[in-house]
Amino acid sequence: MRTPMIAGNWKMNTSVSEGVALFRTIRDTLSEEAVAAVEVVCCPPFTHVPTLATEAAGSSVMLGAQNMYFEDKGAYTGEISPGMLADVCTYVIIGHSERRQFFNESDEIVALKVAKAIKTGLRPIICVGESLDIRNAGSYVPHVVAQVKAALSKCSVASADALVFAYEPIWAIGTGLAASAGKAQEVIYAIRQTLGACVGDAYAQDIRILYGGSSTDENIGRFMAESDIDGALVGGASLKADTFTAMVRIAAEARG
Ligand code: PGA
Repeated sequence: MRTPMIAGNWKMNTSVSEGVALFRTIRDTLSEEAVAAVEVVCCPPFTHVPTLATEAAGSSVMLGAQNMYFEDKGAYTGEISPGMLADVCTYVIIGHSERRQFFNESDEIVALKVAKAIKTGLRPIICVGESLDIRNAGSYVPHVVAQVKAALSKCSVASADALVFAYEPIWAIGTGLAASAGKAQEVIYAIRQTLGACVGDAYAQDIRILYGGSSTDENIGRFMAESDIDGALVGGASLKADTFTAMVRIAAEARG
């Protein structure tokens, strides 16, 4: 049985004090039943992580970072190493489409980061997804399947807990135009089949695969009703504590 996950990607938003306030509201609003049924993750900017690690201690809300570099240390000005993160958070988002688009992250770099995160004991949330052009051309399933295979090409997966995937069609991110649950399920099913081929069916059945792209409390119930969708990677709606906590509650009820 896969535990659903609702993960908030705060992107480059909030001051430290706003982030602390947001985190506290999320942490203190969620019921014990909800956090027992759903894994809740907040991924704030780097500058917030140590402070929020203190806030998260003893709570069920987990922390994640939004990126990392694949080297352990050295002359890489401006980068953050996996080891620096492993002390203060559990998860790390890897290969978000905004990093692929704006920071030229290739499949090769994503694979190096995934391998290093797993080796360091961080759990990568690996993002894949197609552009609108690829969607319209009809080649979105092979495109996403290739991204999944590439992401896992440099690592060995020792347990299903070690990683999470997020299918985020680029055309749905921040647009208010979420994919339909059926469209998301079609691709996420293909991702699970691919994982079966890469790491074996037993692991593949236990790996969480999230949907991301304009997910809200209005549509999360429909995504959770699909057999292969295990939750959401939430951007804009994760900055509103009431919407985000409502999404956690709805996900908990859907699998309760
Ligand atoms: P969105 O972002 O929910 O604002 O569409 C999702 C993401 O980029 O992870």
